Amino acid sequence: MADVAVIGAGYVGLTTAVCLAHLGHDVIGADIDEDRVERLNKGEVPILEDGLPELLAEGLASKRLRFVVGARNAASVADFVFLCVPTPQGDDGSADLSFVDAVAREIATALRPGTVVINKSTMPVGSTKRVQRVLAEAGAPHEDVLVASNPEFLREGTSVRDFLQPNRVVIGCTDTSVAVRVSELYRNLNAPILVTDPASAEMIKYASNAFLATKISFVNAIANLCEAVDADVREVALGMGYDQRIGFEFLYPGPGYGGSCFPKDTAALLYAAEQSGYDFSLLKGVVRVNREQHERMVTKLTALVGGSLSGRTIAVWGLTFKANTDDLRDSPALVIVRRMLEEGATVRAYDPAAGERAAELAPGLEVGADPYEVCHDADALAVLTEWDAFRWMNFDRVAQMLQTPTVLDTRNILDPAALRRQGFTYEGVGR
Ligand code: NAD
Ligand code: UGA
Repeated sequence: MADVAVIGAGYVGLTTAVCLAHLGHDVIGADIDEDRVERLNKGEVPILEDGLPELLAEGLASKRLRFVVGARNAASVADFVFLCVPTPQGDDGSADLSFVDAVAREIATALRPGTVVINKSTMPVGSTKRVQRVLAEAGAPHEDVLVASNPEFLREGTSVRDFLQPNRVVIGCTDTSVAVRVSELYRNLNAPILVTDPASAEMIKYASNAFLATKISFVNAIANLCEAVDADVREVALGMGYDQRIGFEFLYPGPGYGGSCFPKDTAALLYAAEQSGYDFSLLKGVVRVNREQHERMVTKLTALVGGSLSGRTIAVWGLTFKANTDDLRDSPALVIVRRMLEEGATVRAYDPAAGERAAELAPGLEVGADPYEVCHDADALAVLTEWDAFRWMNFDRVAQMLQTPTVLDTRNILDPAALRRQGFTYEGVGR
């Protein structure tokens, strides 16, 4: 079992730290956020993620897991250092690697000979070399700087399960013996391990996210077409999904994809394509369809309330970028809410996980603690995130609360026939 440092204790870093401790390694998690570190050492999980609290408690109790402030302290005693810091979108669309560079500079002289630095954050092709260079420039002994790419494919909401039961583990490294050492960290997982050159590993991550985004924009485009020709996209997606070459997953139409990864990673891939002189028109289309899909929801809602949102009150259920997470980064729900506010609507929202923080991200948004209360006297209800609880609400009560029983179901989670029987005007996506 190895001594592992995990730098960055967010969705990916925290999951990596607790899961590697669960697999038997000795793990130090590091973050710059002192409050986060203090809470983690007390067993408090700062994010909503199924299974994390249990594995954090297990790791702390076994003493195989602890958290410290600052990357250097953690890296100095590690055989492997995972970089799990943010790589947000820069102004020009490129991936901003300043957090990665800062950590590399911080840990360079603290690394022991033979320590492997592992890029787990999503970083563009060339980043393995880049981290190697930054480490060397910052004083790491050159011959000892070993860097590998090991992209992460977990989804928020199911991060622990995805980490412990991955479809594959990808390791990009020029030195096979280093790749073997990294692969041993995952020895207890039942997953294929793919060893490639660093550039291919880095590209696998971007290509995978871009492909999933493409599936979503494709099904959203089909949904829009279904509306025009009176077909039901859910039947269409089901009929397509049975073809094993297509599959059922990521064929759910909705308000467009969001979250902390697809938008920024498609932008970064487009930027990289442009830099290398390739016109990635397909991916440009995917991004455009996605932007239009957000706006299409606003158009649908406007039509539902009689042609203008100005002076209307809209109740909203769901603000996170998808269900079962508290993450609001690049949430389509917030894009739609901001547009409603811009058009002069009063917007009152309920979300099971992200309430108050959302109000800061959409100034003017009123956030309520009760899903029925936010419907009081509203002109329509818009369901923007697919939280399971929304399926089982008392819609007679909702109808009584609303001024007119009207619902825009951007996630197709409600039963249109039942709602229509209850007197609702119902609008979904592609049905
Ligand atoms: P996050 O914002 O949740 O977490 C990042 C953490 O790094 C924060 O806690 C921050 O305080 C910490 N940090 C920043 N600078 C630091 C430093 N110098 N030293 C120590 N800690 C520092 O981010 P995330 O969602 O976990 O994403 C991290 C990376 O993983 C990104 O590149 C992302 O694209 C990639 N990724 C994310 C997901 C996901 O589902 N969120 C999945 C796969 C890959
Ligand atoms: C996504 C990928 O699924 C992960 O494999 C990847 O590791 C991660 O990005 C990353 O690189 O950060 P995540 O962002 O957590 O994971 O969420 P997804 O479940 O992929 O959903 C992304 C967006 O697409 C959400 O807004 C979701 O509502 C939307 N979506 C998803 C659809 O509209 N339809 C679908 O059929 C599936």
